[in-house]
Amino acid sequence: MKSAFSKVIILGGILTLISNIAVAEVFLPGMQPKEAGIEFAKVQQCRMCHAGTKNKDADPFVSWQSGIISISAKDPIFRAALAIANQDIEGIGEFCLRCHAPRAWLEGRSTPTDGSTLNTEDMYGISCTVCHSYIDPLSAEAAKIIKDVPPGHGNAMMVSDPQNVVREPYGDGKGAMPHEVLKSPFHTSSNLCGVCHNISNPLLAEDVKKQPPTFSVIFSELTANGCSAILQNAARTEAASHAITGRLMAEGRRMWVNAVFLGSSGKVLKEI
Ligand code: HEC
Ligand code: HEC
Ligand code: HEC
Ligand code: HEC
Repeated sequence: MKSAFSKVIILGGILTLISNIAVAEVFLPGMQPKEAGIEFAKVQQCRMCHAGTKNKDADPFVSWQSGIISISAKDPIFRAALAIANQDIEGIGEFCLRCHAPRAWLEGRSTPTDGSTLNTEDMYGISCTVCHSYIDPLSAEAAKIIKDVPPGHGNAMMVSDPQNVVREPYGDGKGAMPHEVLKSPFHTSSNLCGVCHNISNPLLAEDVKKQPPTFSVIFSELTANGCSAILQNAARTEAASHAITGRLMAEGRRMWVNAVFLGSSGKVLKEI
């Protein structure tokens, strides 16, 4: 019978093996840092026109800023967990930054993996352009831009449009816009949220190119409710959009406001 001591030695050996693998970047399919030359816009640029309008609290900027997604890179609880993760497995923080600071990850600032090279814009976490430049990573369109198509939605295996175009459900924006608009069914699908809210441990996957992320457990109940509410409303709004006067007052946007306020992590916002 093996003693407790030898079990510790075996466990130690396995951990050392994992840490040796993890010293290198954690490879996952999807767009790679700096691939296709993606450069994200600054949140302040979007804010100029998408805040302070007659829509008041329904302005996209307000709802975004009120939510935890706007602080996902500087969230102190996340930062603490990031430090511990890096101590446990050297270099693993790069995996965390994929989701919590996607702008930094795609523009190539996720190493060193303690987040010390993140710039002011990266600190805005899931910023406007992150979501609005997403292409369904499993689509034929994505396959033209990237080398390795992901096996499923999750683990921040994302694909971003390097062009100056914003994608969202309606694609019928009018007026003086500094960006083009594109109608995107992906932006009415919970798969968009699943890109980050589905997660599994890539170090345990036999082949990350073939195995889709397995868990959605990271989606807390409130988040899941918020997500489906937003997206159901987005779908409804899409159908009704042409009939609504003052389209940006549409129900979907109001739901986004309410939903992001909810969520179990809301307490963090009160602490900082
Ligand atoms: C695939 C995307 C993804 C990756 C990779 C990821 N996270 Fe997260 N993380 C999330 C999401 C999404 C949430 C919010 C979940 C919820 O509340 O439903 C979250 C929440 C958290 C929270 C809770 C924050 C709070 O204020 O309550 C911590 C802490 C955290 N993550 C740490 C980490 C660490 C450390 C790593 C790397 C080992 C990591 N995460 C990797 C997506 C990710
Ligand atoms: C987590 C992903 C995500 C982020 C981050 C995000 N959006 Fe959106 N946005 C969406 C989705 C999904 C929709 C469509 C659903 C809806 O209308 O609520 C949308 C809708 C919109 C619309 C159209 C609203 C309407 O009613 O026609 C605008 C404008 C917009 N977003 C701007 C922004 C700006 C500006 C930011 C940053 C301050 C931002 N978004 C951040 C996902 C996101
Ligand atoms: C100079 C003003 C201006 C700036 C800056 C700006 N937008 Fe817009 N945007 C507009 C106008 C005008 C519309 C159309 C509104 C309408 O049709 O009611 C629009 C529409 C949108 C829509 C909805 C598209 C559609 O088809 O319905 C999204 C999403 C969006 N913008 C995102 C962004 C993001 C993200 C940024 C920052 C990178 C940004 N915008 C910066 C003026 C701007
Ligand atoms: C680029 C990755 C990414 C995408 C895409 C994304 N999220 Fe998140 N989301 C996160 C991270 C990371 C957190 C946790 C931030 C923290 O706690 O520090 C989070 C947190 C949340 C929370 C707060 C959860 C809580 O328990 O307080 C809500 C609500 C949420 N996301 C909704 C959505 C919805 C709806 C979509 C799709 C329209 C979406 N997210 C897309 C990364 C993402």
